[in-house]
Amino acid sequence: MITVEVPLPDGRGYPVLVGPGAVAELASVLPPGVRRVAVVTQPGIGVEVDPGCDVLVSHIGDGEPHKRLSTVEALCSEWAQFGLTRSDCVVGVGGGLVTDVAGFAASMYHRGIPVVHVATSLLAQIDAAVGGKTGVNLPEGKNLVGAYWQPSAVLCDTDTLTTLPPREWRCGLGELAKYHWLGGGRLDELPLDERVARCVEIKAEVVASDERESGRRAILNYGHTLAHAIEIAGGHDLRHGEAVAIGLVYAAELGRALGRIDDAEVAEHRRVVSGYDLPTTIPDGLEDAELMDLMARDKKVRNEGLVFALTGPDGVEVVNGVDPDVVRATLAAVR
Ligand code: GLY
Repeated sequence: MITVEVPLPDGRGYPVLVGPGAVAELASVLPPGVRRVAVVTQPGIGVEVDPGCDVLVSHIGDGEPHKRLSTVEALCSEWAQFGLTRSDCVVGVGGGLVTDVAGFAASMYHRGIPVVHVATSLLAQIDAAVGGKTGVNLPEGKNLVGAYWQPSAVLCDTDTLTTLPPREWRCGLGELAKYHWLGGGRLDELPLDERVARCVEIKAEVVASDERESGRRAILNYGHTLAHAIEIAGGHDLRHGEAVAIGLVYAAELGRALGRIDDAEVAEHRRVVSGYDLPTTIPDGLEDAELMDLMARDKKVRNEGLVFALTGPDGVEVVNGVDPDVVRATLAAVR
């Protein structure tokens, strides 16, 4: 088992346990004094947990429509009827949707109770479950209501990844690919548990430096600006990780167009993304004008024009005020 400590600025911190069988460690990572555990999961997850105390298991529905405030309200009501107190614990068992919803409900219930995440998808293990971002969608947009609520521990049981549907696995790889340029290097050459642990370490270091995304944390969105636009314009035909894969190749092309990286670095982006069997071109039917409009509305944008996380001589950094003409012209490189 590999243990990665996630340090936080105020001296708090928590362990992330990575490896086969990590789920068996649940009882040992619960905060001291916990007498009841409220498990949140989905019917299809099929991962059994044993916290070694009184348990209530609540199921939430599958799919983005269930990531909503009414789901949080229903969970909190069930917990109140169960008698969950502030000295007990919530345990989210599932992918990013489950950990986002369970974490957000935990942040609200009794004004905040501890949460432990048992991340069962690759995407949740390397990204969603670590770092404390929680939340739900509104009809007006994704993740518009949420809280920073750090878990007490995260368990990344790599055995749970062996049964992931192939498309979900590849989507996780799309998110994993970004870590190659966030200090991970040739991650594709590492065994799975070391690869997951390395991504967690990188994320932990970034989160420790900027927990509430006042700046640097936005580098974790490497490849995401075009990805979000493709997801929305395409009506979510492409899954998030697939869109991030295209977004990474685009970010490399944009970096080259801006003189930040050379041909070899662009080729390395294409090698990694293709090696993970992910797409490198924008699906047909998505027009430049719509993608430009959506990229201009990205959450990172404040008032300075187009904003991208871009790699360069000093690694990935957030670059403000990128020339819209260059952004538009570079779309041709991923057509
Ligand atoms: N998924 C990006 C972040 O946690 O900041």
